[in-house]
Amino acid sequence: MNPPPASETPYPWRMEDLVSLCARRGIVFPSSEIYGGINGFWDYGPLGVELKNNLKALWWQRVVRERDDVEGIDTAIICHPRTWEASGHVEHFSDPMVDCRACKKRFRADQLEDAGKCSAREGSSEHDFTPARHFNLMLRTSIGASEDAAATAYLRAETCQAIFNDMKRVRETSRQKVPFGIAQIGKAFRNEINPRNFTFRSREFEQAELEFFVHPSEREKWFEHWLDERVAFHRELGFGDDRLRVRPHQPTELAHYAKAAADIEFLFPFGWQEIEGVHDRGDWDLRRHSEYSSKDLAYTDEETKERYLPMVIETSVGVDRTCLALLANGYAEETLAEGDVRTVLRLPPAIAPIKAAVLPLSKKLAEPAHRLERELRRHFNTFYDESGNIGRRYRRQDEVGTPFCVTIDFESETDGKVTIRHRDAMSQDRISIDSVLPWLRERLETGK
Ligand code: GLY
Repeated sequence: MNPPPASETPYPWRMEDLVSLCARRGIVFPSSEIYGGINGFWDYGPLGVELKNNLKALWWQRVVRERDDVEGIDTAIICHPRTWEASGHVEHFSDPMVDCRACKKRFRADQLEDAGKCSAREGSSEHDFTPARHFNLMLRTSIGASEDAAATAYLRAETCQAIFNDMKRVRETSRQKVPFGIAQIGKAFRNEINPRNFTFRSREFEQAELEFFVHPSEREKWFEHWLDERVAFHRELGFGDDRLRVRPHQPTELAHYAKAAADIEFLFPFGWQEIEGVHDRGDWDLRRHSEYSSKDLAYTDEETKERYLPMVIETSVGVDRTCLALLANGYAEETLAEGDVRTVLRLPPAIAPIKAAVLPLSKKLAEPAHRLERELRRHFNTFYDESGNIGRRYRRQDEVGTPFCVTIDFESETDGKVTIRHRDAMSQDRISIDSVLPWLRERLETGK
């Protein structure tokens, strides 16, 4: 699919505008850019890493820390290769692809409308496709000095398989009883045939996954519970009804392991796309890992003595996709009263890379401004800027989503007050310099 023209998207700006802001302000840009980039890989710059870390911290807070029934872990990227045989990835994790015999480019057989024209055929711009073949999406590597089949390993295609590998130990060491969950955030890798739509479909990406283990009689209840929780999380990120929807999977589109599934979708400039999946994976994973490892992963209920394989309810959110949704949702080009246009990123304060910028009106005020900024930076990410006129400095903060700018002026020295300027309304409050920290803290905590 070619991107729809701006006039047909729900956004009054073009995707290139957002991509360009991200590069210009060091939020996210092509990986290995000095070599021309590498397709499907992206780097987060100084502001992007703050944004992404804030999103991950909020997820961790809601999914792990605020719950007694969820434990967090951080596993190796490379698992024992048998893991991927047990999970079904070696056999099933593939996309149909075709090659063009003329231009030698490779395409997904189910996305040929994106293929464009062939540049290499004489007298025709049509591609000369081979029949479709299955192409395994796992990225392969080899361990140790030898490169034979025995040394083949895979970069994980999803973070959850390591959770299943570790389930027994984590449950025992944390003394959890079913129902309980294990969560992790980490990189996953898929050798996508056509990476596209900026960071949306890339070959290296980050997932935040929860595997929640339940009694077979409770799977529907927990599926609904986690779907509701996850929708509430995306609402907290500021995604409204017009840009967020739940799409239950039809029985024909369920993954090989899934008994029920729903996608949480966001309306991007390039259309509705999945940002999170909530799946009832049944006992597929624990049954297969029990079989392939010869370790019994069943659970015994201490009270009833019932022994069973727990069912798994999974929530799996794409961190990079959600970052992109936040950027798209927040990006706006506003025409101001004076005819001036400002670019603003309306990010929720909890997600904004910089929480407060301290701006002395003159370089002569640097000393008290530095003093204030040093105090604030002990509590959250701040930025100090004394260069350029104050209007331009506000604009620089608006376009990276800084919710508050604190301006120190010559009166501050006599009245002990500073001006706080709000990113969205562009309104200003004058408050005492001593109350800046509690004032900001209150607003950052409540998100208002
Ligand atoms: N674990 C589910 C997924 O990666 O899509």
